[in-house]
Amino acid sequence: MFLYNCVVNSMVRAIYPGSFDPVTYGHLDVIKRASKIVDELIVGVLNNKSKTPLFSVENRVKMLNDAVSDLPNVKVMSFEGLLVDFAKKVDAQLIVRGLRAVTDFEYELQMAQTNRVLAPDVDTVFLTTSLEYAYLSSTILKEVAHFGGDLSKFAPAEITDAVIEKIRLTADNK
Ligand code: PNS
Repeated sequence: MFLYNCVVNSMVRAIYPGSFDPVTYGHLDVIKRASKIVDELIVGVLNNKSKTPLFSVENRVKMLNDAVSDLPNVKVMSFEGLLVDFAKKVDAQLIVRGLRAVTDFEYELQMAQTNRVLAPDVDTVFLTTSLEYAYLSSTILKEVAHFGGDLSKFAPAEITDAVIEKIRLTADNK
């Protein structure tokens, strides 16, 4: 089906979904590389109402929009509910996920297979994370930020500054 879409529709639209709380250099690396492979890449920011993220979905979308402003075929949107429903809504044929280490694989495979059962026309492709970001996650970034560590290798300064400010405000309100 994917090949059919490539040949017949010629336009390949993919979704790169995630929580992005906040976006890291690892995510940005995947976004840049995926944007070169597909015609249009939609970064889908999950608005998960059952979780309490550090940043609101509006903030996460804004931070991502600022970080991808130099990539003309990348669009940032938030979504709720099932990823495959969002994929159908925006008419995307592909889901892109980054794979860091073998520890990611089990969860990613389960998610890809679930999505395939739910929506056989939407395929998942994996990009292996660049080695320099193989250790990095939003959780690691926040953990280091909590203890006042150097964040410069983890995300652009505007994002790490926002994390530091958010953590400071949260501590002040306790
Ligand atoms: O960056 P994350 O938190 O690893 O991203 C996970 C995400 C957003 C891709 C995943 O939780 C998701 O797709 N959630 C939407 C709900 C859904 O479709 N679940 C079924 C697939 S298991």
